[in-house]
Amino acid sequence: MQIIFLLLLLMASSYGYAQNYTQSFEPLPVSIIDETKNVALIALGKKLYLDPRLSIDDTISCNSCHQLDNFGVDNQPTSPGHDGRRGGRNAPTTFNAALQIAQFWDGRARNVEEQALSQILNPIEMGMANEEAVISKLKKIDEYQTMFAEAFKDEKDPIQYKNIGKAIGAFERTLITPSRFDDFLRGDENALNAAEKRGLKKFVYMRCSNCHHGIAIGGNSYKKIGLFEPYETSDLGRYEVTGLEADKGVFKVPGLRNVAKTAPYFHDGSVATLDEAIKKMARYQLGRDVDPSFIKDVKAFLGSLTSKQ
Ligand code: HEC
Ligand code: HEC
Repeated sequence: MQIIFLLLLLMASSYGYAQNYTQSFEPLPVSIIDETKNVALIALGKKLYLDPRLSIDDTISCNSCHQLDNFGVDNQPTSPGHDGRRGGRNAPTTFNAALQIAQFWDGRARNVEEQALSQILNPIEMGMANEEAVISKLKKIDEYQTMFAEAFKDEKDPIQYKNIGKAIGAFERTLITPSRFDDFLRGDENALNAAEKRGLKKFVYMRCSNCHHGIAIGGNSYKKIGLFEPYETSDLGRYEVTGLEADKGVFKVPGLRNVAKTAPYFHDGSVATLDEAIKKMARYQLGRDVDPSFIKDVKAFLGSLTSKQ
């Protein structure tokens, strides 16, 4: 009797333990857009995403900086636009971006639909002069006449600027990438190996998950970079959106899905390797110096967030 009681106690406490270190996370749903109902819209969005004609001199597409065959990034600290000039920020991945509370490092676009429209007109990215210039360019292309008409069946004049955003956004909503960690969260204990499980525990007990949690393992809050140790940056971050003093140096906490593949890191692209990013996070955000085994295990865990496809 006593033995059974003890066993029950042990089972309950180990169950509680497992709950404890996965409760901050949520597995990806199978889909976040009805792909069968939106076939034409998604196909149009994909075509626009890959089309350099959305830029002033027909050289740069979304895919130049957010490569679909490269985890949605270009692996450069900052990205050259149509005339070779670079902005001050690292290009985040478009994979799983739609899951976040807002878009851009400072959260200045509400969603992927709104986000796409600003980059087409950004002078150092795609460089189109204005909305009308984009529309008149697309209207001259027969294929777009057909594809917009199919995607926006009820509209008389479907080639509208906002519809470009709707289509690219719909396509980006298909870019979600299930990982082995999702299998683990759904109960498949064997989906992670021993090092990855150790890394997950360390990630949680070190409180990395205070900021990197939820369905995107981040992407759902804004935090200052350099809470324990000041971080050198000339970028004002979220202050540029809100004008609030407290938002200086505050950035959207990036989601960590596919992070092993999306180097370099941080808003300025200044951190070349994942090892260094983990080490710096512990110092800047938590005031902790971590040992090589911490870095190794947490890196293993972060590797389990890479897409299975
Ligand atoms: C010249 C390179 C370049 C091009 C071209 C470009 N982007 Fe970006 N993209 C960036 C950079 C850099 C950022 C981050 C800028 C910031 O936060 O201020 C970004 C941010 C984003 C984000 C926000 C992701 C996040 O996690 O906040 C999305 C989504 C995105 N781009 C999609 C697109 C789409 C769609 C297009 C085409 C219409 C496009 N990009 C064209 C470089 C580029
Ligand atoms: C207080 C909130 C907070 C905590 C705690 C935190 N992070 Fe971060 N993390 C951030 C923010 C904000 C950024 C973006 C920083 C920037 O570039 O401005 C970030 C960026 C990162 C990046 C780079 C991602 C990219 O795409 O550039 C990695 C990797 C990372 N964190 C891992 C960790 C690990 C591992 C821990 C625990 C040791 C941790 N973080 C703890 C807020 C936090």
